Amino acid sequence: MNRVMAHVGSNSEIIPHVHLIWLENCFFASIARPGQFVMLHCGKDTLLRRPLSIHQTDPVRDRIALLFQVVGQGTSQLAQLKPGSDVDLLGPLGNGFSLSDKSHNILLVGGGIGIAPLPFMARVSKDRGCSVTMLLGATTAKQLCPRYLIPSSIECITTTDDGTKGGKGFLTDMLPEYLDRTDQIFACGPSPMYRVMAKIPAIRDKEVQISLEVRMGCGFGLCYGCSIRTQSGLKKVCKDGPVFELNQILWNEFVDI
Ligand SMILES: Cc1cc2nc3c(=O)[nH]c(=O)nc-3n(C[C@H](O)[C@H](O)[C@H](O)COP(=O)(O)OP(=O)(O)OC[C@H]3O[C@@H](n4cnc5c(N)ncnc54)[C@H](O)[C@@H]3O)c2cc1C
Ligand code: FES
Repeated sequence: MNRVMAHVGSNSEIIPHVHLIWLENCFFASIARPGQFVMLHCGKDTLLRRPLSIHQTDPVRDRIALLFQVVGQGTSQLAQLKPGSDVDLLGPLGNGFSLSDKSHNILLVGGGIGIAPLPFMARVSKDRGCSVTMLLGATTAKQLCPRYLIPSSIECITTTDDGTKGGKGFLTDMLPEYLDRTDQIFACGPSPMYRVMAKIPAIRDKEVQISLEVRMGCGFGLCYGCSIRTQSGLKKVCKDGPVFELNQILWNEFVDI
């Protein structure tokens, strides 16, 4: 883990209430893995750092990108940062996704702002020679992640809850039809989406890695604030995760945020 004083390169609202921020001076960009996250001091009004997934990296220029939804005080402050501002952050943190050497066909599943870490995973999977399909869901067309953030070489299928773009319905409705041709699934989204996924019968034979979102205190294993119950005992999401096997989580004991 590194503590870095990063500088805001750019910060823009790309869809309503969702910002893309590029942070410079992040020398760990070359060692960060998809699914890892950073803990940021968002501003003087918030004491605790906030966790955000690494959305993309640019190792040549020591930059990382974060994609975040404005939901409260910390993210509101972050949204207001101008280019050149300093951001105190810790990273890269957590385990990240693990791509098996045996996997050729990868399915990425991103619900809402859960898309955040997946373009980075898409890029790394393509670099390893995998065929990548992404299922991308949002409540409505305006909230869909713009296509330019997703590598153009991957197949991207969209769905919206209200049918304003792509298929109509939930991501989990279309998921079963993609399972046959998939070696590994990587998902990021709200925990209710994972609960539904865990009940899809055909998914039980698949290797499914999910990135969990819980409230975090420290982000590096000290406070136990992020502990959850799994099949193999108590785990800290910040240190043992945030990526877990879907079927490892004891969903009836997991508390949604
Ligand atoms: C490992 C990890 C990676 C994450 N990656 C991203 C990301 O890439 N993009 C993104 O937009 N968000 C991400 N989140 C969620 C993000 O951390 C929270 O939205 C953020 O901390 C809220 O801070 P706030 O001060 O703006 O809101 P607060 O004022 O603290 O809370 C406002 C609302 O946000 C909810 N909230 C607070 N903390 C979290 C949390 N940790 N997870 C989910 N909801 C929360 C609260 O329940 C409340 O409803 C991630 C969370 C984790 C644990
Ligand atoms: S957030 Fe402190 S131990 Fe995980």
